This record gives sequence, C-alpha cells and structure tokens, in this order.
Amino acid sequence: MAFKGLLSLLAVAVTLQVAKGAIIRKAVCPDGNTVNNAACCVLFPILEDIQESLFDGGECGEEVHESLRLTFHDAIGFSPSLNARGTFGGGGADGSISTFSEIETVFHANGGIDDIVEVQKPFVAKHNISAGDFIQFAGAVGVSNCVGAPRLEFLFGRPPAVAPSPDKLIPEPFDTVDDILVRFADAGFSPEEVVALLASHTVAASDHVDPSIPGTPFDSTPSKFDSQFFVETQLRGTIFPGTGGNQGEVESPLHGEIRLQSDHTLARDSRTACEWQSFVNNQAKLQNAFKASMAKLAVLGQNVDDLVDCSDVIPIPKPLNEAATFPAGLTHNDVEQACATTPFPTLATDPGPVTSVAPVPPS
Ligand code: HEM
Repeated sequence: MAFKGLLSLLAVAVTLQVAKGAIIRKAVCPDGNTVNNAACCVLFPILEDIQESLFDGGECGEEVHESLRLTFHDAIGFSPSLNARGTFGGGGADGSISTFSEIETVFHANGGIDDIVEVQKPFVAKHNISAGDFIQFAGAVGVSNCVGAPRLEFLFGRPPAVAPSPDKLIPEPFDTVDDILVRFADAGFSPEEVVALLASHTVAASDHVDPSIPGTPFDSTPSKFDSQFFVETQLRGTIFPGTGGNQGEVESPLHGEIRLQSDHTLARDSRTACEWQSFVNNQAKLQNAFKASMAKLAVLGQNVDDLVDCSDVIPIPKPLNEAATFPAGLTHNDVEQACATTPFPTLATDPGPVTSVAPVPPS
C-alpha cells in the first residue's frame, strides 16, 4: 500500500514518456510548469522577471534588440586560430562581456553595448545564474516576443567566465566581406550561417553608427521577425537617414532606415547574395536557419555535454501572418539583383504614399 502511494506521488511529480524509443522524464515544477528536466524549473521565475521588468511586459522592443546583439557580442569572442597560436582566444558564450565588462565594453565594436550589460547585471546578481547563461537566456526569451520568430534553443549550465575575450574578434560594419567571412569561419560558421545569423538585423536598430538619429532601424518592421530586412537591403540605396558620411554606413532606400555597409556588401557578394535573397518571403527557411545558427552561437566555447537542454522554458512566439512587400513607392525596379541564378521574388508594393520608418522608441 505504502509502495503504491509512493508510486502515485512520483507519478504526480514525474511522468515517464516514451518518445522515439527514448525515455524522457517530465518534471512538474513547484509553480505548475512542466519541463523535460527538473533542473530547468529554476528558470521560470527568471523568465517571469525579465518579461516583466526587462522587456516591458513581453515587448519586442529596444531591450530585446539589445539583448539579442549581446548574445552575439559575448559569444563571438572565441577564436580557435588564436588558441592554436598559443594566445587565449576567448571563452565564447561565457558571459565574459559582463563579468569583465570594464575591459570588453570599451572595444570599438562594442559601442553602446555597455547599456544593456549594465541593465542586465542586477538580474544576474539577483537570480542564481551565470552571466553566460543569463545573456543567452535573455536573448532567447527576448526573441520569443517578436512575431514570426522561431523558438530558440536554450542550453543551461555555463560556468562563470575565467578571462576576458581579446579585442578585434567582433565584426565591424566597415569590414570587408572577406574579413567578415574569415572571422566567422574561424568561429565555425559557414557563409550561409553568417547570412542566417544576420536575420537578427530584422529586429534591430542603430544608436551609434549615426549618433544624431538614435533608434534608427535596419528595416521597416523592427518589432517583427520577418524577411523585410532581406528585401530592403537589396533595394537601391538613395538617402542617408541622418548626417551621412558615417563609418560603416551606406545609403538606404527609405527615410528613417539605416543601412550598414556590411549588410549591403553581404547582400551583393557572390558568396552570400543567393542565400540572402532566399530568405525573402520564406518564413520557414528564415526561422529554421536562424534557429540552427543561433543554437551554434549560443554554445560557442562551451562543452554541450555539461549543459541541460531547457529549450522548453522558452515561450513559443506568435506566427507571422503576412507576406513580404516592397515599401510604398518602391517596386521590383528598385531591386539591385545580386543573385546570379535565381530571380528576385515577385512582391506586392505597400499601398499609400511614401512614408518614413519610425525610430525604435527608448524605454
Ligand atoms: C557581420 C556581422 C555583424 C556586424 C558588422 C554587425 C554590426 C552591427 C552594428 C554596427 C549595429 C548597430 C549598433 C548601434 O549603432 O547601436 C548592430 C546592431 C545589432 N546587431 Fe549586429 N552586426 C553583425 C552581426 C550580428 C549578429 C550575428 C547578431 C545576432 C545574432 C546581431 C544582432 C544585432 C542586433 C539585434 C542589433 C540591434 C541592437 C539594438 O537595436 O539596440 N548582429 N549590428
């Protein structure tokens, strides 16, 4: 009888499920959430806290954009080629950008990153979590607030960072395509994966490339994870949204929109142009490719066997229910065709008069 009682108690806490031959233990957390691994339960209070207090109640706004950028700037501090030459090449997605912020945030490529590092620090201190875990967790949770995004993976258990990353590992918008591809290849990414990672710039804005126009987005829909970024970067540049002449900036096709030189050149280089164009109006490919390349990025330098898969804590994003379009006033004639093998997809033009893209508001 006692044995039976114990069994039913266990059944409440842990249900066993056989899926594709593997036994998965589902744990019910104290707050009622169900996860595949009980070690993930501690993440739910952190999720609730950051959705409320960091992301303004679950928005895809400035802090989400900054938190996503931070996942990259922490992780890409990782260089096997430096290690091979006997120099420490950085610990990758280890939280060093926060732990050693006084060193890393002053790197030129990290302009403006100190804002989000400082905003995140109290959350890291309050919750019993490493900075490396927090940065990747906040990035994955943040992206889930953007309509059309994939549900990113999150692996849990990064140890504290041991040393700062060396400088010069983060790509700059004025770098050549050669330099960008070489740097990413060193960190383990193919040209296709680089293009997939740049889907991040669909939920992004710039404060510092042209400091006279903070919050200027890279596409017309910075709170949606859609393919407008890949459409709009392929259009002929005609204007500078602000002062112009800034390092790493080229002309954009729309008032209120800023274009990075690196996005412009990657969209037009023969090694990356067809992959770039392939994301236009292909939401499934956009989601899958971004999810896969972000999964690699988030564990750079980590031993994945030591991490616990807590992806089921990440909320499921809302789907996107709209097709890509040319912004009002622009058509197929404004496309600078760069992919030699496949024509640019046929898209409708937004109705109405030519508009200006609104800045991403600070919160
Ligand atoms: C060739 C590689 C890349 C270059 C040169 C680059 C460069 C930049 C620059 C210059 C900014 C504007 C910063 C500012 O002025 O405030 C920016 C913003 C951003 N980047 Fe990248 N980036 C690259 C790749 C990535 C990747 C791989 C990710 C993420 C996976 C990423 C995510 C973001 C996000 C989300 C923002 C917007 C931040 C905000 O709105 O506050 N970038 N990037």
